[in-house]
Amino acid sequence: MATKRKRRIRIKWKNLIIFILIIILFFVMLIKGTTSIYKLITTPKKEDNKNVVKETVKTEKQIKLEKLDNIQNKIDYFNEDYLDRYLEYKDENKNLDNTQVIKNVNMNLDKKQYEYKIPSKYTNTEKVLVNKYYYLEDDYIPDNLEDIDRKYALSNMRMVNVAKEAFEKLSQDAKNQNLNIIAMSTYRSYKYQINLYNRYVKNDGEEKADTYSGRPGHSEHQTGLAVDVYNKKENYTNFEKTNEFNWMQEHAHEYGFILRFPKGKEKETGYTYESWHYRYVGVDIATYIHNNNISLEEYYATKIKDW
Ligand code: DAL
Ligand code: ZN
Repeated sequence: MATKRKRRIRIKWKNLIIFILIIILFFVMLIKGTTSIYKLITTPKKEDNKNVVKETVKTEKQIKLEKLDNIQNKIDYFNEDYLDRYLEYKDENKNLDNTQVIKNVNMNLDKKQYEYKIPSKYTNTEKVLVNKYYYLEDDYIPDNLEDIDRKYALSNMRMVNVAKEAFEKLSQDAKNQNLNIIAMSTYRSYKYQINLYNRYVKNDGEEKADTYSGRPGHSEHQTGLAVDVYNKKENYTNFEKTNEFNWMQEHAHEYGFILRFPKGKEKETGYTYESWHYRYVGVDIATYIHNNNISLEEYYATKIKDW
């Protein structure tokens, strides 16, 4: 009897030990499992690591952007490639607001005229920009040059056909109002501009000549889209005082022409005011420029956005 009881107690002990071992095993596995899950959640994946690096690079740029009050979110003509130029220009022109800083740098006003040179884009289109930064090659001759009807021109002269047609219509419509708007200088070759510019330099010196004449390759007369006009009576330099000028102020854009070097835009265009020099840019661009009272340079800097 006593042996039987002893065996039963031993069996109970055995069960208890097995039970405890199972419990311990259960807790060990529970802890291990939880640790693995925790590691899985908290360890950054390889891709997350990449993002961390990206984040650091971005921060450097972010600091620069913050100096410009994150203006890139407000205007669509912000050029990230110019970020350092914007900051440098802003530093040198503390009186300017950020929008003006962006516009001016987009117009290259932070660079020296005739030193920072870029070949003109959009040649043979009405969008082409030629100024003291953008230039045409010496062998550039526009396509589709055509003679202007002598009724509307002082002598034999040519313009690109779309501009020629627009100008003839403009001149005829003005004539119907008893106004004379006559072409006196249109397409000029690179070679012609060399002689003209050199003559001006001889007479007035380089500094003065640069205020009113384009250097060879930098005159938009070479595009075949520009026209200097007069009214047959007054010297062209007095064109501003004529009824023809007033009519042009109101209607030139309807034919696709803009006053290319307006008063008050000397810094942008690089030239003194010329009441007689018009440029064909097409009706859409001309209307936008007219309605917003801006120069072609400002249009280019804010609307074309391809500098
Ligand atoms: N007179 C203008 C600026 C030209 O020479 O193109
Ligand atoms: Zn001109």
